Amino acid sequence: MVDFHSHFLFDIDDGAKDIEMSLAMLNMSTKQGVTTIVSTPHYYADAAKPHVAIAARDENIEELIAYAKQENIIIPEIKRGFEVRVKKHLYEIEDFSELCIENTKTILLEMPLKEWDEELLDVIEFVKTEKRLDIVIAHFERYVDRIPNDLLLKLLEKNLYIQINAGSLVKRDKLDFICELFRNGMAHVIGSDAHNMNSRCSLMDIGYAYIRRNLGQEYIDKIEANAKKLLNL
Ligand SMILES: [Fe+2]
Repeated sequence: MVDFHSHFLFDIDDGAKDIEMSLAMLNMSTKQGVTTIVSTPHYYADAAKPHVAIAARDENIEELIAYAKQENIIIPEIKRGFEVRVKKHLYEIEDFSELCIENTKTILLEMPLKEWDEELLDVIEFVKTEKRLDIVIAHFERYVDRIPNDLLLKLLEKNLYIQINAGSLVKRDKLDFICELFRNGMAHVIGSDAHNMNSRCSLMDIGYAYIRRNLGQEYIDKIEANAKKLLNL
């Protein structure tokens, strides 16, 4: 199982508070059947240069892997990435490879929860066509009911990859919509978007169970295949 989106790194964004929580989150992921997890701390282009964010992230991951080894806890394979907020400041970034998930041309982009406009969609077009990256839009379902439908449709028409949060599948009002996206080939990968061990913990196993029950095993297979393709696994 691939968890495409997680904030398990400690003391770096609004995710895990300390290294113990990070390890507990990874331990929980392993128990749920996650074998590969993408570390996706938030990245805001107006707050830090990529190399500064990369240094902080990589130091954090190395410390965490060493700690897991010391504590004899099996953790999923970690892939280094970011959850990059779509802002006009992205125009200033030369080398996008640093913001992609390691060894890929895949970038996880996050939209704001309100105030979308055409200019924001232009930034996505820039990343897609000028930088020639495979774009994954984080937790698309979170924008529905908050963003005008015409803008949501324009985003979908860009034929990007769509990531869904596992925890959204347990919400009655979201489940039917998400299943419809998968049936129409408009959703592609699942992430936990886990931030902690309680209110925003990983629900990957439950999310997969909902997909299996509502859509069938073939969709689980498709999701896993999509994730592996995007991660070059
Ligand atoms: Fe996130």
